[in-house]
Amino acid sequence: MQLDFTTLATRDSYPWLLATVTPRPIAWVSTVSADGRTNLAPFSFFNAVCARPPTLMFSVANRPDGTKKDTVCNLEAVPELVVNLVPFVLAEEMSASAASLPYGESEFEHCGIASTPSVRVRPPRVAAAPVAFECVLDRVVLIGEGPQAANVIFARILFAHVSDAVLGVDGRPDPAKLDLVARLGGDAYARTREVFSVTRPD
Ligand SMILES: Cc1cc2nc3c(=O)[nH]c(=O)nc-3n(C[C@H](O)[C@H](O)[C@H](O)COP(=O)(O)O)c2cc1C
Repeated sequence: MQLDFTTLATRDSYPWLLATVTPRPIAWVSTVSADGRTNLAPFSFFNAVCARPPTLMFSVANRPDGTKKDTVCNLEAVPELVVNLVPFVLAEEMSASAASLPYGESEFEHCGIASTPSVRVRPPRVAAAPVAFECVLDRVVLIGEGPQAANVIFARILFAHVSDAVLGVDGRPDPAKLDLVARLGGDAYARTREVFSVTRPD
């Protein structure tokens, strides 16, 4: 089949993006409001951008009514964040934290997710996350406008926490020990269970 994205309605194009650009890693992002109230939400339009300077990106769509999600409002007030990565054992909590709570109500408390203070930034990190990147906001790039338009967040990594328990014999993270989940379409997720190698040319 073929799809003409220049004529597809957003409600039709979005599911096709969700179901085809897979598997997607998940940024589990903690932020704080101006008065210090914590927020936690998952975003799977997420990836690393570059190592110099060390930068991550994720995309936060506006709500159907055109308003910004709490994560974006918080970053506009306090330009600091933690990007936590999500292991299989925290998949349920991660999904629960996608709930639309009133602004200022913490998903950490609402979902019973333990937090721990960060070293360089004000938002706390997810205590049980095997990897957490403490970041400052680099910039927000707007793609589109109004409902479903994207606030693409670029975040500069200042400091990282990597659990010793996920390191392999080479001192680097072992994918099997990390056991991160990735998002597929709808409510489906994948685990990093089958790993293979492909050599690349010099
Ligand atoms: C696995 C998963 C991935 C998600 N990815 C995105 C995403 O990439 N962009 C987005 O805008 N919302 C995404 N969402 C929805 C947000 O998490 C949800 O709208 C959340 O309420 C936003 O929280 P906030 O208002 O506290 O920022 C995702 C939800 C789940 C469960």
